[in-house]
Amino acid sequence: MSELPLQRDIALAPLTTLGVPATARWYLRAQSVEILRAGLDWARQQGLPVFVLGGGSNVVFAEDWPGLVLQPALRGRALEATSDSHFIVKVDAGENWHDTVAWTLEQRWPGLENLALIPGSVGAAPVQNIGAYGLELEARFHSLDALDSRSGTLVTLDHTACRFAYRDSILKHEDGRHLIVTAVRFALPRAWTPCLTYRELAQQFAGGETPTPRVIFDAVVAIRRRKLPDPAELGNVGSFFKNPVVDAATYAGLHARFPDLVAYPQAEDRYKLAAGWLIDRAGWKGRRIGAAGVHAQQALVLVNLGGARGADILALADAVRTDVAERFGVELEQEPQRPGALPA
Ligand code: EPU
Repeated sequence: MSELPLQRDIALAPLTTLGVPATARWYLRAQSVEILRAGLDWARQQGLPVFVLGGGSNVVFAEDWPGLVLQPALRGRALEATSDSHFIVKVDAGENWHDTVAWTLEQRWPGLENLALIPGSVGAAPVQNIGAYGLELEARFHSLDALDSRSGTLVTLDHTACRFAYRDSILKHEDGRHLIVTAVRFALPRAWTPCLTYRELAQQFAGGETPTPRVIFDAVVAIRRRKLPDPAELGNVGSFFKNPVVDAATYAGLHARFPDLVAYPQAEDRYKLAAGWLIDRAGWKGRRIGAAGVHAQQALVLVNLGGARGADILALADAVRTDVAERFGVELEQEPQRPGALPA
């Protein structure tokens, strides 16, 4: 292969939505599987750790990256197959998530509209099984292609192999962390029905005509614009914590003390608590420590108020986590990634 388009000492802030300062010693935007492979080979020869960066909307850099930041930038979207029940649409990892959702609607393949306006790339979407407004990616997922960074071969993972769970998949775990997603296939139902389980959507469309996919798309965009900060204006990585899932006894104890606690029943007699409610109730909404703040419209989102460093955001997160644990006895788990190297 000819010269790799490697770049040196690149500022990472513009490649992320949190916008905190950090530098990558080396950076490579890979527009093909061949370039991904060559980048991995090069880093191995140099003995450098590799971090795979998607859309930069779910990562917190608190330090410079001493090795290679590898960003899959493969582009392409196409209808791959149709069956009696589904359109199978294949999208390359470097495509923008929101633009892809809009494009599927233009093509008249609805099904992703509840996931409108989520920042980030298509390749990152299955890693944490993105979800919002009543729908998780896994409900529309068919399969993915990934490059095995150890062997250099391409593999395909179907739904079962991905082991999806709430904000989780095999790609976050030891037996999947060596995989770099290169393309995702969606299974979009021919017999579309609206997903209106999220309370605000249910209320908005109660009693009226069935909304079209485009109307739901617009409603989701409007809700997000109202509650969530636009990363172009206020740096953030969306929800900073997962909604904690607790057992029935813990839920009952908390509910007795806090009757307005927000919780959603789950399988196996467990309850998902609204972390935003816990943080809000603990008095953190709108508070700041230096340039790191808790968003005034959604306490689950931490924001860079201007000039924050990654360490400032993590210090605020720690203060929130400690206080919530003391008040409610519930541990909050960080949702965005800390950068970590591909396994050797
Ligand atoms: N709440 C408060 N105060 C707050 C925030 C929330 O009291 O400051 C309460 C509200 O009563 C609300 C409940 O918490 O009823 C839940 O809030 P919301 O509907 O805004 O959703 P969430 O549980 O805080 C999750 C996802 C979001 C997703 C929304 C909508 C996680 C970690 N977050 O947030 O995802 O957009 O549901 O489906 O599951 C993301 O992952 O980055 C993200 C933004």
